[in-house]
Amino acid sequence: DTGTGTGTGDVAAADLDLVTDGTLTVCSDVPYPPFEDFDESAPSGFSGFDIDIVQAVADGLGLDLAVKDSSFDGLQSGLSLNAGECDLAASAMTITDDRKKNLDFSEGYYDSLQSLLVPAGSDITAIGDLAGKKVGVQQGTTGEAYTKENAADADIIAFPSNAEMFQAIQAGQVAALLQDLPVNVDNAKKSDGKFEIVEEYDTEETYGLAIKKGNTALVEAVDKQLGELRESGEYDTLYDKYFSA
Ligand code: ARG
Repeated sequence: DTGTGTGTGDVAAADLDLVTDGTLTVCSDVPYPPFEDFDESAPSGFSGFDIDIVQAVADGLGLDLAVKDSSFDGLQSGLSLNAGECDLAASAMTITDDRKKNLDFSEGYYDSLQSLLVPAGSDITAIGDLAGKKVGVQQGTTGEAYTKENAADADIIAFPSNAEMFQAIQAGQVAALLQDLPVNVDNAKKSDGKFEIVEEYDTEETYGLAIKKGNTALVEAVDKQLGELRESGEYDTLYDKYFSA
């Protein structure tokens, strides 16, 4: 087997048990800016912090990058990866014990919080004000779980994606959105002052790249690349590109 990858990484591509030889096939629930978004000007057709990270990982392993838009719920449950749809999921996915039952994870690459977004001037200023109100969450997310635990008396509406959540609050169909802070920050910025974040919740979440359960060779190869990104300073450059104030 001569392999199709250029093979600059230490691990032979064949050992990584990739869906397509020579390519790192990545599933992501797009759009979820600033982590993943459609971008016709980018070589992969996608851009964002996660996309730049996996591009660097693919480069380091001597692999091409292919990105597939996927449903987050299918990713976080392990269904898509274990069915062989992709090699890894880069989808702002929080590492949780529940998910570890069905998925392996790389080391953490981003720390996040939850947050509450409302129309500017709303009478909802804290999670306790959600009682009887419609609050949008994304299906299968830690934000959904947090809302169920901490706002049980709210009318919780689960949407398949952040795009649908944001449309719903713009249309007045929900009174608030509870989800990861950086994504609500992005929603607020785009709204030109129409929406604001009124509360943040320190849930101590860390995002990891999710990998098919049992593919330890790929976990190790990815972790090695992430380590090199941190050492070279490229991680900080990418972080600043997306998250500097
Ligand atoms: N961090 C949250 C979780 O893991 C939300 C991630 C949603 N990601 C996405 N690309 N839609 O549940």
